[in-house]
Amino acid sequence: MHFELTEEHRAVQEAARDFAKNELLPGVIQRDIESRFPVEEIKKMGELGFMGMMIEPKYNGGGMDTVSYVIAMEELSKIDASASVVMSVNNSLVCWGIERYASEAQKEKYLKPLASGQKLGAFALSEPEAGSDATSQKTEAKLEGDYYVLNGTKNWITNGSQADIYLIFAQTDHSKGHKGISVFFVEKGWEGFTSGHKEDKLGIRASDTTSLMFTDVKVPIENRIGEEGFGFIYAMETLNGGRIGIAAQALGIAAGAYEFALAYSKERKTFGKPISQHQSIQFKLADMATSIEAARLLVYKAAWLKDQGEDYSHASAMAKLYASQVAMDVSIEAVQIHGGYGYVREYHVERLMRDAKITQIYEGTSEIQKIVISRGILR
Ligand code: CAA
Ligand code: FAD
Repeated sequence: MHFELTEEHRAVQEAARDFAKNELLPGVIQRDIESRFPVEEIKKMGELGFMGMMIEPKYNGGGMDTVSYVIAMEELSKIDASASVVMSVNNSLVCWGIERYASEAQKEKYLKPLASGQKLGAFALSEPEAGSDATSQKTEAKLEGDYYVLNGTKNWITNGSQADIYLIFAQTDHSKGHKGISVFFVEKGWEGFTSGHKEDKLGIRASDTTSLMFTDVKVPIENRIGEEGFGFIYAMETLNGGRIGIAAQALGIAAGAYEFALAYSKERKTFGKPISQHQSIQFKLADMATSIEAARLLVYKAAWLKDQGEDYSHASAMAKLYASQVAMDVSIEAVQIHGGYGYVREYHVERLMRDAKITQIYEGTSEIQKIVISRGILR
């Protein structure tokens, strides 16, 4: 066992850190205020290889391991969790499953532009009445000749109006429950497919979250991934990896808030000395650093298990459950360490505190992670 990063990991870390500092930091506050999607920044992330990091080079990916991916997610999330969720969805919810389960023709057509960042993907599982209870899908796809006819509504979809290529989950046979759910590629602009307004959110405000509506959308039969009925398992397997990405995002939010607080504590003076010299601030910093380190070990372990080809479903749920709680706790303390300055936008920590909350909700709430973990323990 060793805890050293390889040279390649360090290079990824440095590249992501530089990008976050030079390209994301300058406009992050304004994008948050305006709920403005980071169009140019995401384009540059594609050019730098951040949008398909784990995909084989023959499909335009970076051919890197999951540990590299979580390192990059952590660094970018220290500054801009809106940009990092776009990256996380494209990498682990969209590209990963396509590489693993789609046909060669589908990979040629859809994976190559997604992994290179030329096109953006979305993963549409949730519905108004099927969030945690994801098997209760109402969207349906009826086979009529060479096409499925798709009807229904998805909501809360990240990249909802910005994506080019969508993975849509739908019931192809209601009588079979979750074994009657299938997954399809749907493209932006197809007749009958529209997206709703952008949600006005507490955090990750620059990311794009919308509903999607389908009215008699014709989806060619060759756009189904795998067999009919494979969709739910496809979603669960994909989410096992996606949760590692969100755990890394939570870790990054916590580490970013901590770094801002640490620097501030050395500058801000009260009662004749830097606040870092007051023991109550020192103890806060000690608690923050310790919990971040524990979260990092869980996140890296889950990524490492995935890279080893071992079962990582429970490890990823544990990493997400724990790291998202750490993101909340640490970001709240970071605001506290900043005093009044922490309550205004200029000092970044209030944004990180708002951003932290979503990591306990999406890709399975904390309660759902506990269900996944406990089922694993009791199996
Ligand atoms: N990995 C692999 N397979 C899994 C699995 C996992 N983590 N969890 C469940 N399954 C399989 C089961 O083994 C079972 O398969 P079989 O029928 O072959 O035995 C099948 O899925 C159904 O499982 P359950 O009977 O356990 O189903 P359930 O309805 O009791 O609960 C659940 C399943 C774990 C609660 C699931 O519904 C779930 O994960 N809900 C949360 C949904 C979610 O995470 N949504 C995220 C949307 S994407 C997103 O949020 C993106 C973003 O924000 C950026
Ligand atoms: P509900 O399922 O209604 O849950 C409400 C509460 O009840 C929660 O606290 C939950 O933990 C609890 N609960 C529910 N069931 C149980 C149970 N069995 N035991 C204990 N507690 C339970 N989805 C996508 O498909 N793609 C996306 O790209 C995407 N992006 C998102 C982006 C944002 C900003 C948001 C807010 C959501 C996004 N989602 C996306 C949806 C997200 O995955 C769901 O919001 C989440 O899974 C919870 O579902 P819900 O909102 O319907 O809450």
